[in-house]
Amino acid sequence: MSAATGADRLEIAPAAALVGEIAVPGDKSISHRSLLIGAVCDGATEVTGFGANADTLATLAAVESLGARVERLDAGATHLRIHGCGLRGLQAPEGVIDVQNAGTLMRLLPGLLVGQSGSFTLDGDDSIRRRPVDRIAMPLKLMGAVLGDSDGRPPLHIDGGNELQPIGYELPVASAQVKSCILLAGLYAATGPTTVIEPVPTRDHTERLLRAAGARIAKGPRTVSVWPVERLELGAVDVPGDISSAAPFLVAATLLAESRLFVRGMSTNPTRTGLLTVLERMGARINLFNRRTTSGGEPIADVEVHPAELVATEIEAEIVPALIDELPLLALAATMARGRTVVRGAGELRVKESNRLETVAELLRAIGGHVRATDDGWEIQGVPARPEGGRVDAHGDHRIGMLGAVAGLVSRNGVRVEGASSIGVSYPGFAAELERLAVRPW
Ligand code: S3P
Repeated sequence: MSAATGADRLEIAPAAALVGEIAVPGDKSISHRSLLIGAVCDGATEVTGFGANADTLATLAAVESLGARVERLDAGATHLRIHGCGLRGLQAPEGVIDVQNAGTLMRLLPGLLVGQSGSFTLDGDDSIRRRPVDRIAMPLKLMGAVLGDSDGRPPLHIDGGNELQPIGYELPVASAQVKSCILLAGLYAATGPTTVIEPVPTRDHTERLLRAAGARIAKGPRTVSVWPVERLELGAVDVPGDISSAAPFLVAATLLAESRLFVRGMSTNPTRTGLLTVLERMGARINLFNRRTTSGGEPIADVEVHPAELVATEIEAEIVPALIDELPLLALAATMARGRTVVRGAGELRVKESNRLETVAELLRAIGGHVRATDDGWEIQGVPARPEGGRVDAHGDHRIGMLGAVAGLVSRNGVRVEGASSIGVSYPGFAAELERLAVRPW
C-alpha cells in the first residue's frame, strides 16, 4: 500500500503522475461566511457545496450555540439550511464559544457579536491562543465596542450591544479577516458608511455575500465601504470548490511528468488565484474553461493541468494576499524549479496555524531542499530534480501536513508526515483523494 495511515501519520510513496478528475470540497472562507451571515439573516439560507471540515464545523457549532438552527440536509453536511435569527437576534450562550483551530471564526464572529446584546467569550486551541486578535479588537474599539483580550491574544471577551459609530480604517497589514470583521460590524453602525482601506487587495468573499444579502457595498481599488442595514436575506448560496484545497493537486500534477488532471468547479475569484498567476509565470500549463458564476456571486471554472518544467521567480508583497495559503506549496515548486526564487512581503505567514516561514523551511530542508527563511519570506535555490524525501512534522498545521504529502509524491524515496490528522482542519478526505489519483506503475 502506498499511503499507510497510522494514528496520526501518513506515509506517501513517490508517484509517476497524478491522473484523473477531482471536485474539491467547498471553499472554507465562503463556508464560514455563509454560516455567519446566514445566522443573522431573516428567514432560511440554503447552502449547497458547503465544505465540511473541522474549521467550518466549529463555525456551525458556534452559530448553533448562538441560537441559529442549522439543518444538515445530507450525510456529509455539504447541504445545509440555516434558520437565521435576524440582524440583532443572536443569543449569548452559557459558556465559552470554542473556535478550536479556526482563525477565520475567531476574527469574523466578533464583528457580528458587537451588534448583539449580551456578553460573549471566544477561545480556542493552543495554536489560536498564540495568534493575534488585537488586530480586530483595535478597530472594533474605535467604533465604540467593548472588548478585552489577553495581551493581544485569545481568549477574547465582548460586551455587545453598545452603540457603534462608523469608522474609516486603514489596515496596518493586509488581512481579509480583519477587513471582514470591520465590515460586519459596520452593518450595525448608527449611521454609515464604514470604510476599510487596504494596503493590498485581499479576498472579497464577505463583500460579495453581503451584497447578495442586500447590503449596500461600494468598492474602490483599495477601499471597501459598507452601509448599516435594517435586515439581511441571503436565500441560496452555492459554495465553489476551494482553490486552496485544489492547490496541492495543481502543484503535484505540474511537478509529476506524466500527469493529466481535471479539477471541476474551482473558485477563480481573482482575489484568490495568485497561485495560478505565479505558476504560469514559472512555466506551468494550467488551462481554465467553462467559466461561470455561482449564486452568491462567485466566479468558478473547470481546470486542466499538464506537467511542466518550472523556472524560478520572484514573489512580491502585492500578490501575497492572493496566494497566502498556497505559499508553502509554491515554495516546494520553487525547490524543484531551475534557478533561485525569492519570496518577499509574506511576514503574515509567521502568525498562521504555525509559523509557516519556519515550518516550511524546516520541511523543505528535511526532504533535501535548499531553503532559507528571511524576515518576510524565503530564498530558495531550486534543483530541477526530485528531492530525496524523509520525515517531516506537520506542526499541527493542515497546510504543512498537505505540503508534506505532495512532497512525498514528487520525492525519490517518499515522505513520512507526522501529525497528519491536522489535515482534517480543512480537507478531511485529502489523503484518500491524493492516493486515488496517484499513478505508480512500478
Ligand atoms: C482567510 C484569510 C486569510 C487566510 C485564511 C482565511 C479568510 O487570512 O490566510 O486562511 O477566510 O478571510 P488573513 O486575512 O488573516 O491573512
